[in-house]
Amino acid sequence: MTRTVYVNGDYVPEDQARISVFDRGFLFADGVYEVTSVLDGKLIDFAGHAARLARSLAELDMAAPCSDAELLEIHRDLVARNNVTEGLVYLQVTRGAADRDFAYPEHPSPTLVLFTQHKILANSPVAEKGLKIISVEDIRWGRRDIKTVQLLYPSMAKMMAKKAGADDAWMVEDGLITEGTSNNAYIVKGGRIITRHLGNEILAGITRTAILRFAREAQMVVEERAFTLEEAKAADEAFITSATSFVHPVVQIDDAVLGNGTPGPVARRLREIYLEACRSAAI
Ligand code: PDD
Repeated sequence: MTRTVYVNGDYVPEDQARISVFDRGFLFADGVYEVTSVLDGKLIDFAGHAARLARSLAELDMAAPCSDAELLEIHRDLVARNNVTEGLVYLQVTRGAADRDFAYPEHPSPTLVLFTQHKILANSPVAEKGLKIISVEDIRWGRRDIKTVQLLYPSMAKMMAKKAGADDAWMVEDGLITEGTSNNAYIVKGGRIITRHLGNEILAGITRTAILRFAREAQMVVEERAFTLEEAKAADEAFITSATSFVHPVVQIDDAVLGNGTPGPVARRLREIYLEACRSAAI
C-alpha cells in the first residue's frame, strides 16, 4: 500500500515525495526528529513530543517550522489518511537546503517531513518474552539530550547486539549505564526503581517522564541516579521505555540472567498502568 506522507505543506504519495540533495539533514545530519505512538487511532502524549521538539530546535538555533496546533493537525491528518489504528508518526525537521557549508545558512528554510508506520504496540510479543541486552561503549557525541538524526552509532550498536544473538544494547560510559540505543534504561533492586538522572548524557524520554510519574503515584520508590553495569547485572529486574515500546522488560544483560529470566513484576505492572493511562489520555 502506498502511504501518504507530508513534505513541506503537501500531502503526497510516498513515491512522489522529494527532498533536495542539498538538504542539510542529508549532508550534515543537521536535523531533529520525534516519534509519537498511535493507539486506537489516537496520539500518545503529543504535547510532550511537541515540547521536546521545540527544545531540540531551540538548542540548535533552528526556527520552528509551524505552530504546535498545526503540527497536531498534520499528525491527525496523516493518521486518518493512512488508516493507522496502531503504530507511529515520525516527524523530522532539518535546517533545509543550502549550498554545502559547515556554517549555518543565514536565511534557512526548514524542511518538515512526517510519515506514518503501522506497528503492533499493545500486544507486542517482547512484553511477554523480555529482551536480551548486550553492553557496548557509549561513544556518541556529548549532546544526547537533543533528539538529532545522527543515529549511526545506535544503528551500529543494534547490529552488534544482533550479531551477538541479543535484542538490543545498553550503552556504558565510565562504567555507568547511560541509556539504550533508542530507549531509556532502568533497573529494579530491592523494590527501588533506578534510572539515570537527566543531563546532556541521555535523552529525556517522554515515556520516561510519564513512567516515573506513574511509579511515584503508585507509591513505588524511584531513584534518579547513574548506575553501574555491575549493579545492572545484579539487579532483580530491568526494563526499557520508549514511545514505540512503552515498557519492555529486560531479562538478560551480557551473560547475567536477571531473576528467573522472565519479565519481572515491576516492569509488568508499569506497562499495565502506562497502557491504561495512555489509552484514556490519547488525543
Ligand atoms: N527513540 N533515548 C534514546 C537515545 C532514544 O532514541 C529514545 C527514543 C528514547 C526514549 O524517548 P521517548 O520515550 O520519548 O520515545 C531514549 C525513538 C523511539 C526512536 O528513535 O525511534
